[in-house]
Amino acid sequence: MAEDGSLCYFEEDAVSNPTNGRVFRDVLSAAMTRRESLGRLAAWVGATTLCLGGSPGSSSAANAFGQPGLTFPELQRGLNETARVADGYRWQVLAAWGDPIFNNAPGLNVWQQSGESQLGQFGYNCDFIAFLPLASRGRVERGLLCVNHEYANTNLMFPGLKTRDDLASMPRHLVEAEMAAIGHSVIEIERRPGGDWKLNQQGKLNRRISPLATPMHVSGPAAGHARLTTSADSTGRHVLGTLNNCGGGVTPWGTMLICEENFNAVFSGAADATPEARNHKRYGVDGPSRFNPAWATHFPRFNIEREPNEPNRFGWVVEFDPHDPGSVPVKRTALGRMKHEGAGIVTNHDGRVVIYCGDDERFEYVYRFVTLRPFDASQPEANRNLLDEGTLSVARFDEDGSVTWLPLVYGQAPLNSANGFESQADVVIEARRAADLLGATPMDRPEDVEPSPVNGRIYIILSNNSKRPQNQVDAANPRANNVHGHVLELTPPHAAGGLDHTADRFEWDVFLRAGNPENAADQAECHKDVSQSGWVSCPDNGAFDSRGRFWMTTDGASETAGTAEGLFVCEVDGVDRARTRLFFQGPRGSELTGVCITPDDRSLFVSVQHPGEEEGSDFASPSTRWPDFDPQRPPRPAVVVVSHRDGSPVGS
Ligand code: FEO
Ligand code: CA
Ligand code: CA
Ligand code: CA
Repeated sequence: MAEDGSLCYFEEDAVSNPTNGRVFRDVLSAAMTRRESLGRLAAWVGATTLCLGGSPGSSSAANAFGQPGLTFPELQRGLNETARVADGYRWQVLAAWGDPIFNNAPGLNVWQQSGESQLGQFGYNCDFIAFLPLASRGRVERGLLCVNHEYANTNLMFPGLKTRDDLASMPRHLVEAEMAAIGHSVIEIERRPGGDWKLNQQGKLNRRISPLATPMHVSGPAAGHARLTTSADSTGRHVLGTLNNCGGGVTPWGTMLICEENFNAVFSGAADATPEARNHKRYGVDGPSRFNPAWATHFPRFNIEREPNEPNRFGWVVEFDPHDPGSVPVKRTALGRMKHEGAGIVTNHDGRVVIYCGDDERFEYVYRFVTLRPFDASQPEANRNLLDEGTLSVARFDEDGSVTWLPLVYGQAPLNSANGFESQADVVIEARRAADLLGATPMDRPEDVEPSPVNGRIYIILSNNSKRPQNQVDAANPRANNVHGHVLELTPPHAAGGLDHTADRFEWDVFLRAGNPENAADQAECHKDVSQSGWVSCPDNGAFDSRGRFWMTTDGASETAGTAEGLFVCEVDGVDRARTRLFFQGPRGSELTGVCITPDDRSLFVSVQHPGEEEGSDFASPSTRWPDFDPQRPPRPAVVVVSHRDGSPVGS
């Protein structure tokens, strides 16, 4: 919400970390020295733009593993009211906001929407997507699509909501509709021979999860702690719903992890009026709701002066079983409380499960969780609570190219009573403050952290940070006023059975410094053959296909490049390493999220989030009415499927 009262849902200038102060001297030169020692330096172009990559004329017919490379004709960058894809491909809307997901659910009626009607429909602002194949029936391919719904653009959804005052006076039934529109959808989808994917409203596993109506359990170190108790739940073990589910992951045992990100935005009240003032301020929970103050009016649990512990019940990773529509989701507190962007999951060579997490805010940290016990594929029940025991760590990036994982363990100094930590519950509830004390490296907005299934390395997407001053530049965050963002690559050490994702120290390198390579002031670092359509700004979500190609979406290019947000793809090894190419663009005002590729690489799902979210755009006159272009309907966020017209793998 902007100061002038216009509606700007997630202001991106939030900074909650008061300790963002590791000051280095001439760290850019230090980073350069290190790269030279690694032998990876290619050439400086001009004084400021570094372009890495293959020899002139290098072919992209094969990647570093001898697999077919990326050969599609690149899409031209633009700004359009509709979505566009590279020649040879097509896209279709699979599920959009308001589509009934049960055969008895009503269709979308924006003039009469309620919580009840919305709970039978696909939610708003789709984000993370997972595809879980189901057994085919004859020639019909089937699968479950699990989709997060991060937040709602209420001023685009419903008539008459132009200002903050309009939102604040929303009636309860409309607030309920808004609450029901976020959370998560599980939908069964099927693809007929040669045809489109379709939502199956008869699917027995179809389900909606929301902050309005889905009871959840709490497990792990903070479960049952006094700081999680409220007037509605004296046990501190039962929470109604989940908030701001952004990214996620699929565990090796087939459950879904959905991550609570900007939960702070829904709460109202003065932090200083609560016994949790220090904690709430560190998480940006202070003052009127930046999302919709009407939540606290109709639901006092979102007023922190009434329920000071309610924010402690959000900001977690939530696990649920999509194959059991009656299962109760569980908030796994061992993974720490933060603005969880997503969950990058690896099964280590010894069977322990490793989850990488970004805390998406300027100057926040990158975390890792390692389970205490190994995953046992032969005993599914044994994995049920695997995420309740393990070690949460936070990353410190050093100039020598090493990253050290610092454990957040109660009792190990400084995480003790001298600093207000009386138990591991306190450590996970205040994971950010614990990480401050350990000396973690404040990063440029950690969004997705994605492990490559092919080379085993980890890719940390750092979206941007225009608030980083020159005297707070460091080797891993090498640009002041970093408006374009960058991507780091982490390499775990080798162990007898493979890469050791549980090791205390990894190596890190810069994979990509985003920006326009033809603009020296951007100080971009990219492949020398990246085109004027292919350069990336504000990378956000990432996903690997089965061949190890890295797909990246952007969130911010509309400001930095004046174009619609894009879906880009590149190799991560070989001569085409970091040669990003534009594959797909969303309609204006939208952000692309949640990329997910089927195991055969032939279908790519992507979420088109908040189409029409632009200055001056509202229900009456949205900047686009994608995808229906019906003058009676507002724009609708939707999951889109992209495929090649001849059935080839995407990116061919
Ligand atoms: Fe929901 Fe950080 O993106
Ligand atoms: Ca994101
Ligand atoms: Ca973002
Ligand atoms: Ca978003």
